Amino acid sequence: MSKAFGFVAYGGPENQKFLDRPTPSPGPGQLLIAVRAAGVNPVDWKIRQGYLGTGQPPPVVFGSEASGVVQAVGEGVEGFAVGDEVFGSTVTGGYAEHTLLDAASTAHKRPDVTFVQAAALPVAAATAYDAVQQLDLKAGQTLLILGIAGGVGSVAAQLGKGHGLTVLGTASDGNRAFVESLGATQVRYGDGVAERIRAAAPDGVDGIVDLVGGENARAAAPTLRNPGRLVSAVDPATAAELGGAFVKRTRSADTLAALAKLVAFDALDPHIAATYPLEHAADALSEVESGHVRGKLVLEIG
Ligand SMILES: NC(=O)c1ccc[n+]([C@@H]2O[C@H](COP(=O)([O-])OP(=O)(O)OC[C@H]3O[C@@H](n4cnc5c(N)ncnc54)[C@H](OP(=O)(O)O)[C@@H]3O)[C@@H](O)[C@H]2O)c1
Repeated sequence: MSKAFGFVAYGGPENQKFLDRPTPSPGPGQLLIAVRAAGVNPVDWKIRQGYLGTGQPPPVVFGSEASGVVQAVGEGVEGFAVGDEVFGSTVTGGYAEHTLLDAASTAHKRPDVTFVQAAALPVAAATAYDAVQQLDLKAGQTLLILGIAGGVGSVAAQLGKGHGLTVLGTASDGNRAFVESLGATQVRYGDGVAERIRAAAPDGVDGIVDLVGGENARAAAPTLRNPGRLVSAVDPATAAELGGAFVKRTRSADTLAALAKLVAFDALDPHIAATYPLEHAADALSEVESGHVRGKLVLEIG
């Protein structure tokens, strides 16, 4: 048996509990890992709330990214062996002592990247990577990130800077110094945001990565030099209304390896705000649910 943290009914945090489940066995294309670290993301509580549908019968284990050590290899998986240190997208939740990874979305963990850093890459950092790639801006152009201080935004900022872009992003004033430490300009969100964006970028912006959605995206969109150059990771309907697009997630092992290499070379910091033991997973998830984590929270397990 193996300990995991999940929810037993769709709805609020009152449905969360620790579960004892049989250690899962890897099916074709899967790996069983002993989890060493698991990323905590807003999508975890959104799934619990049923915002992404209620088709998966509870209990459901939280989490969709993890790092750990391979315990068993499923049929048809090549390039991985028992004992390998890996990280990737989970099939059976990350908040757990053991889980299954999808081998196609799994990469080897380099020794110069920690389990905690690696567990922070498959969701937030990879989404930032996909969004920045999709916008396809050229060096010297200006990127606006709505929600720059979170796990996705802080990585998108660093990748944008790495591409030679001028980066600005919306965050509260409490995050001004943090945003500046990313090499970006902080713009306070809320009433009057378009004027503040224009003050920071008088010629307008060339692309927007939207991590907030709704009115925040509508207010910022008119600052685009070319309408529609907006990629959202959070609000497909508003993105479409503004002529933009939803982020196309590649979930590729090559992307994970590229991100890990940047971390190893100190060219990317996934900004782990805090780590929690599995026993305190509810506290970590509640903090993420508050919507104001700076960077990422990660569970350290085992
Ligand atoms: N489609 C996908 O595959 C995918 C993948 C990953 C994430 N996402 C989604 O992308 C969004 C961002 O995720 P995340 O992991 O970066 O975490 P997050 O919890 O959304 O980000 C936290 C940050 O959001 C900032 N924030 C809150 N309200 C804001 C507002 N109105 N304007 C600007 N910033 C605001 C906070 O900064 P302040 O404290 O300064 O307010 C905080 O630093 C989430 O909705 C998530 O579900 C989608």
